[in-house]
Amino acid sequence: MIEFKNVTKKYGENVGLIDASVHIKRGDFVFLVGPSGAGKTTFIRLILKEIEPDKGKIFLAGKDITRIGRREVPAIRQKVGMVFQDFRLLEKKTVYENVAFAMEVLHKRKREIRERVPYVLDLVDIKDKAKRYPAELSAGEQQRVGIARALVNKPRVLICDEPTGNLDPNTAMEIMELLEQINIRGTTVLMVTHAKDIVDKMNKRVVAIEHGRIVRDEEGSSYGYKKPSIQEPQLFIPRTTIEEDNRQTVYLDQSAHDFTPARHEDAVHEHYGVDDMVSAYLNGGEDVYE
Ligand SMILES: Nc1ncnc2c1ncn2[C@@H]1O[C@H](COP(=O)(O)OP(=O)(O)OP(=O)(O)O)[C@@H](O)[C@H]1O
Ligand SMILES: [Mg+2]
Repeated sequence: MIEFKNVTKKYGENVGLIDASVHIKRGDFVFLVGPSGAGKTTFIRLILKEIEPDKGKIFLAGKDITRIGRREVPAIRQKVGMVFQDFRLLEKKTVYENVAFAMEVLHKRKREIRERVPYVLDLVDIKDKAKRYPAELSAGEQQRVGIARALVNKPRVLICDEPTGNLDPNTAMEIMELLEQINIRGTTVLMVTHAKDIVDKMNKRVVAIEHGRIVRDEEGSSYGYKKPSIQEPQLFIPRTTIEEDNRQTVYLDQSAHDFTPARHEDAVHEHYGVDDMVSAYLNGGEDVYE
């Protein structure tokens, strides 16, 4: 499903990934863990073809995506459903419209949309809130909508970037149960997380990255890192003096990092809305990432 063969990606002096080889098979459920700056987001961005490796090959659904042209990028991204920590729903659209929109931008037929959207809303158990707006939903409900949107175009793999980072522990476990169900139904799941309790409890395959290297890849494994000390996502203090991992800015609060990028390039990347995401989806991302 996803295979990295000796992939190296550097950002100038900074190490993204070094000689990373990993094979995520169809139907796998994989946690990707590692300290801040280890290379987890780099791994995901390579799969989405937002960045290119310096060396190595990356296969997605049997295709070497390092060898395809820009025009094929939207087709590649359709094979991947993304779920985000901050949900990224469109505030002015209802639950139904948020999910339908992901199909509309791909010019799916009206009839197909009318059939598919209620089906996925039912799958994530949010059908009764179809006419509500995101602001009227709890965080857990919003994440269910995020998952429905990620699933609506029948991706081969669901990539979840800290999907429980904004949820209380009970709601987080509910979302994990949902992801497990989705996985049991056949969708491959790759989840980046710092949530030790969840990884330990789920007993799934764990791929650990440190300083760009894959240091562990075990079935039925545990998290194996200290939890970041401060958990509140609102609290962060950017500082420019500490450079423990070559970042220009180091965040006191690890979980804030996903909201608060350290570099301008990331700022553009991480703060784009769903509208931008959709256009990125359709034309290979130039307008958003440049
Ligand atoms: N656009 C960029 N320009 C320069 N360096 C970068 C860029 N993106 C990432 N890096 C560097 O590459 C390394 C890996 O970053 P990455 O974002 O993949 O880490 P991560 O594991 O996702 O961390 P976190 O848990 O904090 O999200 C870090 O040292 C980071 O500073
Ligand atoms: Mg990251």
